[in-house]
Amino acid sequence: MLCDGLVIAPSTPADEAAIFDVERDAFGRDDEARLALALMAAPAWTLSVVARRRDRVIGHVLLTEIGAPVRAAALAPLAVAAPYREMQVGSRLVADALERARQAGFEAVFVLGDNLYYERFGFSAALATPFAVEWQGPHFMALELVPGALAGKAGRLDYPPAFFAAA
Ligand SMILES: CC(C)(COP(=O)(O)OP(=O)(O)OC[C@H]1O[C@@H](n2cnc3c(N)ncnc32)[C@H](O)[C@@H]1OP(=O)(O)O)[C@@H](O)C(=O)NCCC(=O)NCCS
Repeated sequence: MLCDGLVIAPSTPADEAAIFDVERDAFGRDDEARLALALMAAPAWTLSVVARRRDRVIGHVLLTEIGAPVRAAALAPLAVAAPYREMQVGSRLVADALERARQAGFEAVFVLGDNLYYERFGFSAALATPFAVEWQGPHFMALELVPGALAGKAGRLDYPPAFFAAA
């Protein structure tokens, strides 16, 4: 089933409280909500996209620029309000954010998450293997926004400090 009346768009400062609530309720704790707001306030480039239904925020995704051998962003966190899950809201948020990042000149996106969920967008754990980060492992994945962007690349990824405060 698809969610009717869904509008996907970059968030505005007025959405911050609603973003906090959606992230907190989705994860059942404050960590990801605090991470989202901390990243949005930090100096690094971020792209915050919300899903609205009847003017209410029901989903949110954040991309943040990270230091990498190519121009790259981290996708985190992603949340959809429980009553609206399994209606492609998360998929539309991720697809929209990835396309905006591609248009902004980003070459790759990294994510730590459920492999089955993120593989549908083209994320791959194998692509992320050459990159060193504290949360490296089977659930750490990469996606090329520019085909071949990560080929032959390796090295350290530098995430903004907020990621470590939340860990
Ligand atoms: C994960 C989450 C964002 C998915 O949002 P959603 O709007 O329900 O996702 P979609 O409707 O776009 O799902 C698309 C597909 O992914 C599948 N899917 C949903 N959640 C999944 C999960 N956690 N793991 C694997 N597959 C999942 C759906 O079954 C659906 O499959 P289909 O296309 O074959 O029917 C949402 O469940 C959520 O907010 N969860 C709590 C917070 C969280 O875990 N965030 C992600 C951290 S990595």
